[in-house]
Amino acid sequence: MTWTKDSWRKYNIKQQPTYPDLKELKRVEAELSNLPPLIFAGEVRNLKKELKKATMGESFLLQGGDCAESFSNYKADSILSMFKVILQMSIALTYAGGFPIVKVGRIAGQFAKPRSSDFEEIDGVKLPSYRGDIINDIEFNEKSRVADPNKMISAYHQSASTLNLLRAFARGGFANLHEIHRWNLGFIKRADLDERLNELISDITKTLDFMNACGITSENTPQINETTLYTSHEALLLPYEEALTRVDSMTGDYYDCSAHMLWIGERTRGVDDAHVHFLSGVKNPIGVKIGPTATKDDILALCDKLNPENEAGRLNLIVRMGADKIGDIFPKMLREIKSEGRMILWSIDPMHGNTVKTSNNYKTREFNKILDEVKSFFEIHKAEGIYPGGIHLEMTGEDVTECTGGAFNITQERLSHRYETQCDPRLNVNQAIELAFLVADLLKKFK
Ligand code: PEP
Ligand code: CO
Repeated sequence: MTWTKDSWRKYNIKQQPTYPDLKELKRVEAELSNLPPLIFAGEVRNLKKELKKATMGESFLLQGGDCAESFSNYKADSILSMFKVILQMSIALTYAGGFPIVKVGRIAGQFAKPRSSDFEEIDGVKLPSYRGDIINDIEFNEKSRVADPNKMISAYHQSASTLNLLRAFARGGFANLHEIHRWNLGFIKRADLDERLNELISDITKTLDFMNACGITSENTPQINETTLYTSHEALLLPYEEALTRVDSMTGDYYDCSAHMLWIGERTRGVDDAHVHFLSGVKNPIGVKIGPTATKDDILALCDKLNPENEAGRLNLIVRMGADKIGDIFPKMLREIKSEGRMILWSIDPMHGNTVKTSNNYKTREFNKILDEVKSFFEIHKAEGIYPGGIHLEMTGEDVTECTGGAFNITQERLSHRYETQCDPRLNVNQAIELAFLVADLLKKFK
């Protein structure tokens, strides 16, 4: 079947809401189709070039952000702290790990959530599940859980203003390496981490002074003064993605202009289903989550469908098997796929295979399990002689208490202190930086 923006509608589709008002849905889709694209296709091509380098072992992908963005918790401060923590992690990775970092946020569009069940039941009351702020409301009452197409318009506008601020931070001087000491988030109180970060900052400052003396300054070298943060989200809600898909006037190709990079979740990666079909037709870099049930044949079929030209930088497979399973499943898989010669950027999502419920009913993740899955991922790559190209995280620049363990050893009892996530538990700023240093040490072994 030939691909068009709306040809996905003829395919089997999972994880979509049921909109009661179809007339309003059509009206919203038409309105969204007339709004400006959020990103420019040229930026997407630049990202693809950078991801090609990560595929070839010349750089490393750092992708991270909220599990789900929210309408009610929307603040400039949270965007700034997310920006800062991504910068700090990327500095740790570049300087200590020795690779240039491709920075991709789960931000400015990460609103739609796949759910394990279509319904949620509390005390005998059964309502449709919350599917993310772009679809319905989190409050547990009948009215809140109705899918409202107008939320797509709100999500679009929030994404536009988030992107606007991120672009301002990235280009307006905040990311200037001379300002590196100002990126400190002020939460890092564990002495060894703080010391390592301060040492790094002082080294970088000395290097910059030396470069300055040689005439390499932020005036003549934009890389010192600016950075690029790309955006990404799960392309789950296809009416929204379709409405933001546009033809690029320079190449005549289709790009999904809701974000630079899109991914397909573990629950919607069926090779003959709507999500894979839809993303096969746009030129953006595409991620696919690979859970413990994926087979070699599933992966090869995904490669054929999503990357028929075997282009490096197009396809990112995001492994999320869980610390206890990765060692049994992934080595064989990686070995078998290796012999097929496919251009794949392999990255690790150590979050989604390690989610547990505590006895006091919090969804959490143990920091040590997260570290274990990352370490295994790197070791398995080392054994196969393949480069581990990236990491995919749920994290925040705030001092939340959602994952247990880490720098402050957050206990189960402390989770309630600042448990703010709209969906899954995120690494807090300390845990994120601690993880970045660990990854930097692991990366050095691939130099
Ligand atoms: C996610 O990344 O938020 C997510 C739902 O992941 P997965 O599809 O891997 O479960
Ligand atoms: Co999640």
